Amino acid sequence: MSAPSAGATAEARNSFVYVAAALAALNGLLFGFDTGVISGAMLYIRETFELATILGYAVNPSYIEGIIVSGAMVGAIIGAAFGGRLADRLGRRRLILVGAVVFFVGSLIMAVAPNVEVLILGRIVDGIGVGFASVVGPLYISEISPPKIRGSLVSLNQLTITSGILIAYLVNYALSSGGRWRWMLGLGMVPAAVLFLGMVFMPESPRWLYEQGREADAREVLARTRAESQVADELREIKETIRTESGSLRDLLQPWVRPMLVVGIGLAAFQQITGINTVMYYAPTILESTGFADTASILATVGIGAVNVALTVVAVLLIDRTGRRPLLLSGLAGMTVMLAVLGAVFYLPGLSGALGWLATGSLMLYVASFAIGLGPVFWLMISEIYPMEVRGTAMGVVTVVNWAANLVVSLTFLRLVDVFGQSGTFWLYGVLTLLALLFCYRLVPETKGRSLEAIEADLRETAFGTDADGSPPPAKTDD
Ligand code: GLC
Repeated sequence: MSAPSAGATAEARNSFVYVAAALAALNGLLFGFDTGVISGAMLYIRETFELATILGYAVNPSYIEGIIVSGAMVGAIIGAAFGGRLADRLGRRRLILVGAVVFFVGSLIMAVAPNVEVLILGRIVDGIGVGFASVVGPLYISEISPPKIRGSLVSLNQLTITSGILIAYLVNYALSSGGRWRWMLGLGMVPAAVLFLGMVFMPESPRWLYEQGREADAREVLARTRAESQVADELREIKETIRTESGSLRDLLQPWVRPMLVVGIGLAAFQQITGINTVMYYAPTILESTGFADTASILATVGIGAVNVALTVVAVLLIDRTGRRPLLLSGLAGMTVMLAVLGAVFYLPGLSGALGWLATGSLMLYVASFAIGLGPVFWLMISEIYPMEVRGTAMGVVTVVNWAANLVVSLTFLRLVDVFGQSGTFWLYGVLTLLALLFCYRLVPETKGRSLEAIEADLRETAFGTDADGSPPPAKTDD
């Protein structure tokens, strides 16, 4: 990075990028809060509503619970499916505003739901907001960030996801005495309101503005967020990369984009099928099965949530220094080992008294390994590896895969435990994690310190040997 031209001004510009990134990262808080809050609320929803019918049809109570829990994931799949295209059409900032409103309305509907049908509707609406947020949060941050700190800034979004989960666990714990599930779910309105009010004052992504033909606006945003000496270079790079593709699904299948589609879809699926959300959703259930009492299980779960946040902080600090690959690969290796250990802990006889503690410790190390690698690196990578014209669409597709895999894992976990036992289930996730390690080792590129345009130029170069239209690829400046 070239030296800032005027020390103090350059610093002020940089801090403005931090403010914009931190605000946009509240998208992650909505996501995480939603993930963490429902298991606690469910205990009391059961007591308020008689879970026997939906729209007058008799339905098995445990199916109704499943629908309430997974309703948000179905919503998120819908939100992510439209989110990518909407981010390209409306703009990144405007979609963040829309997402915050949708999430707010969903939380409000849940908080006042008079019956189970309205509650499910609220879960789906809230989930659509989460779906938008999960696509557009990392996308916006990635496009406003200078390359040198892009990894850390985009990973703030994963930090707020994990913080949202932890806050939800604490809220569940604090509100459990009165069984106040309406408050638990309704509290989601607070971060949604803060996100909305804050984003009103933030600028649009300069890359999106440029693509809309608004060069002067793009330049102005860059001038607000970069040192003067970098503005012209970055604008030139953006200019050289913008082409005429329409960003349709068909554009995603062009031969030069396809390898990155495989990387994104692979990372999206592996991030979920290696089991992280079984811990996020079911940790208390897993721990109770070791003989821990209710409160001990809930407190241990809070501990696991805290480890998740702490190691994500470490990832945020390291990711632009070590690069993405070392964190990803070492994190996956750690997860594989810990899943093998977890399987063994549940398999070995005679651990009785120690079982709960061993399980808690192993779960913490497994979550720690996820938090340092696959957790943040997936969301970061998918905001970096796609060419501008298809970035929104590609992130939408990949995020749909992530949510669909999340849904499948959360719906099948308890059944897998019935069939294979806890050990068999953890070992199964362990084998899948080993496959993830091989996949990432072979296919995932390093993107540390490169501008988004330089990453794109590389893709073209690999596919065509030169730039797509025959001209030399854009200069690969490193900031
Ligand atoms: C990642 C995953 C999400 C999970 C979270 C846990 O953000 O995408 O599904 O709940 O990490 O930390």
